[in-house]
Amino acid sequence: MQNFNYMTPTRLIFGKGVVEKLPGTMARFGKKILLTYGGGSIKKIGLYDRVMELLKDFEIHELPGIQPNPKYDPSVLDGVRICKEQQIDVILAVGGGSVLDCSKAIAAGACYDGDPWDLITYKVKAKAALPIVDIITLAATGSEYDAGGVISRTETNDKIGYIDPLLYPAVSFLDPTYTFTVNKKHTAAGIADAMNHTMEQYFAEDTTLLNDGFCESMLRSLMVNGRKCLENPEDYTARAEMMLSCTYGCNGILSLGNSPSGWPCHAIEHALSAYYDITHGEGLAIITPRWMRHILSDRTIDRFVKYGINVFGIDASLPKQEIAEKAIDATYRFFESINIPMHLREVGIDESRIDEMAHHIAVNEGLENAYVPLTEQDIKNILLESL
Ligand code: NZQ
Ligand code: ZN
Repeated sequence: MQNFNYMTPTRLIFGKGVVEKLPGTMARFGKKILLTYGGGSIKKIGLYDRVMELLKDFEIHELPGIQPNPKYDPSVLDGVRICKEQQIDVILAVGGGSVLDCSKAIAAGACYDGDPWDLITYKVKAKAALPIVDIITLAATGSEYDAGGVISRTETNDKIGYIDPLLYPAVSFLDPTYTFTVNKKHTAAGIADAMNHTMEQYFAEDTTLLNDGFCESMLRSLMVNGRKCLENPEDYTARAEMMLSCTYGCNGILSLGNSPSGWPCHAIEHALSAYYDITHGEGLAIITPRWMRHILSDRTIDRFVKYGINVFGIDASLPKQEIAEKAIDATYRFFESINIPMHLREVGIDESRIDEMAHHIAVNEGLENAYVPLTEQDIKNILLESL
């Protein structure tokens, strides 16, 4: 078991109607709020109106229009400008992971005199960040409980994961009823994203029985409840358990004491969505089974056997190779069964930029240190297999 040093300072306030506690929470941080949100879903579900009503005694400035795969320019830059001009006390992010990730970059940029890109690229270490409160409306990324944000810069095809303990939300409100309106595409992408977060921690050299059990249980829960959410979008119990599973996915709690894995599927997917602006969870679902097949070897087979038996209930008396292959097939078939497009061509990606993307990933993502090290050629092969 590896050493670790761990803290999650975020308060989670979970359940039906918890947003009513918003005024008391916001008052702890000040009067001037930057309210950030996306393309309008929060208005359609009535959440925007409720938030404005609850916060009628505060001074609210707004940054709307944050896109999926949130963009540095204009969203981060506009948010930082508003925070500085208006001397904002606290950011309230209302929406999916993209809104929250963008708000995290704004929170750090608002307390820095230079170009916020310096912080996102770790050229400069942030010394402070504005506090962040969020109301998460889509179960997927776990951004509501982690210190990371992923920011895209279109002109350079960069999509960078920016992690700093200063970026943990101070408070996250999680009301599963707000996820009832998430459409099937994004519900399925959320399931795939959270499943992959779990797998990125499960497929590692050193793991513990404890962590393996957490991860296996997460994966089973996400498949069972995810399917129920797709069948009946207003199934509160299923939406609630899916929401909590997603929240656990990314903050490291599933892999305390494990050796690092390098999160290879995320490293590869971030390039896909940087170059083609695809939906993150769909990209992951496409890459994951191809990556699994690529790394299956005498060294890794026992992990796949355990995964196959404990997650998919594959017959433990079968030969190891057969269990491992069935486990990879079952992974593929699950994603396919929730209607995720399982080929890159189906999400608009052809072979034309595969060399360029493989090079970009190999140079920028450090996958030579992954659980199974990946060279540029390995990455290219995984992408070609995914076409
Ligand atoms: O923009 P609006 O109108 O709000 O619509 C959004 C968006 O179109 C919609 N939506 C959100 N809540 C809804 C809703 N529609 C109806 N009802 C609701 N209640 O869903 C669409 C997708 O939203 P987005 O925020 O982009 O999805 P998600 O939460 O999956 O976030 C994806 C982003 O997070 C990054 C991804 O790379 C991607 O950029 N990630 C962040 C991580 C983190 N911070 O830890 C980890 C992840 O691995 C991931 O990389
Ligand atoms: Zn992810």
